[in-house]
Amino acid sequence: MRKSFYNNIICTGLGIKYPIFQGGMAWISDATLAIAVSEAGGLGIIAAGHAPGDVVRAEIRKAKEATIAPFGVNIMLMSPHVEEVAQVIAEEKVDVIITGAGNPGKYMKLWQGSKVIPVVASTALAKMMQRAGAFAVIAEGCEAGGHIGELTTMALVPQVCDVVDIPVIAAGGIGDGRGIAAAFMLGASGVQVGTRFLLADECTVHPHYKEMVLKANDIDTIATGKRLGHPVRALKNKFSRDYFSKEYDSSISNEELEALGSGSLQCAVKDGDKMNGCFMAGQISGLLNKEQSAKEIIEEMFTQAEEVLFTQQANFPEIKTVNFPK
Ligand SMILES: Cc1cc2nc3c(=O)[nH]c(=O)nc-3n(C[C@H](O)[C@H](O)[C@H](O)COP(=O)(O)O)c2cc1C
Repeated sequence: MRKSFYNNIICTGLGIKYPIFQGGMAWISDATLAIAVSEAGGLGIIAAGHAPGDVVRAEIRKAKEATIAPFGVNIMLMSPHVEEVAQVIAEEKVDVIITGAGNPGKYMKLWQGSKVIPVVASTALAKMMQRAGAFAVIAEGCEAGGHIGELTTMALVPQVCDVVDIPVIAAGGIGDGRGIAAAFMLGASGVQVGTRFLLADECTVHPHYKEMVLKANDIDTIATGKRLGHPVRALKNKFSRDYFSKEYDSSISNEELEALGSGSLQCAVKDGDKMNGCFMAGQISGLLNKEQSAKEIIEEMFTQAEEVLFTQQANFPEIKTVNFPK
């Protein structure tokens, strides 16, 4: 029988073909991108970011009209509109609710009927989310673009897999089929990908954003925001280098730092301002070298993952059969 990733617990549980989520990306993953990913067989996710409830509701309705495939909404628990958005996603009965930046415990009852999948950066939060009734957790390593925790994907995923019985989805640094295969080897049942979907044709970021990701090399991202307790990974540019140096300048107050960061993501997404924008992206940017449709991205990644895992020795040139002398 042919082995494959399809029909695993994430696919059957959520009604999707490929166990891949397009990570919620504030200001970026709107209904257009989510629809394309869901139509291609993955799970498209609309990011609520810091948007108010009516904006989020409009995006959800757009997606409902365009596709019968399941999709998700990512709610940022740090949003000033969190209560309102929590209510909207309950009323709209979205299939999957992904939570970022915190503990969604207090909303679990309100969201009964949806599958809740929190992003976790530690085993402690993963265990807490299992107890609270989460369908699965997304273990996100600090290679990822956007807000990050301390641990790497390689270290975090197997540790989370060992402490929960619910499915684990790996995120952070997954950009091709080798990354998917590695995630499954670590015990994950699916993957969440953000940075590679920045290059999807259906992703409506400013063309300069895509250009910056395409040009980035392996060491071209930086984590800023540690001083304020909210580290963020973005591409190196004038903005992120300035911010980084000001974090270590004791004459700059926390309020000044906060003001410096405010509006910087929109500046990248909408204006494509290469100097002053915050171009959030992950360490895997250096691997990415082309723009494609969401469908092509997903199919290419899974074709390669199947080759790596299921075709004998195809992509393991360093694994050889050796007869050791007795
Ligand atoms: C530009 C950008 C914005 C992001 N915004 C959010 C967000 O609003 N909420 C969230 O939970 N995660 C956010 N993330 C994280 C992604 O959902 C995803 O977990 C991550 O990108 C996976 O790692 P990768 O970037 O290496 O693919 C963001 C990531 C990027 C690149």
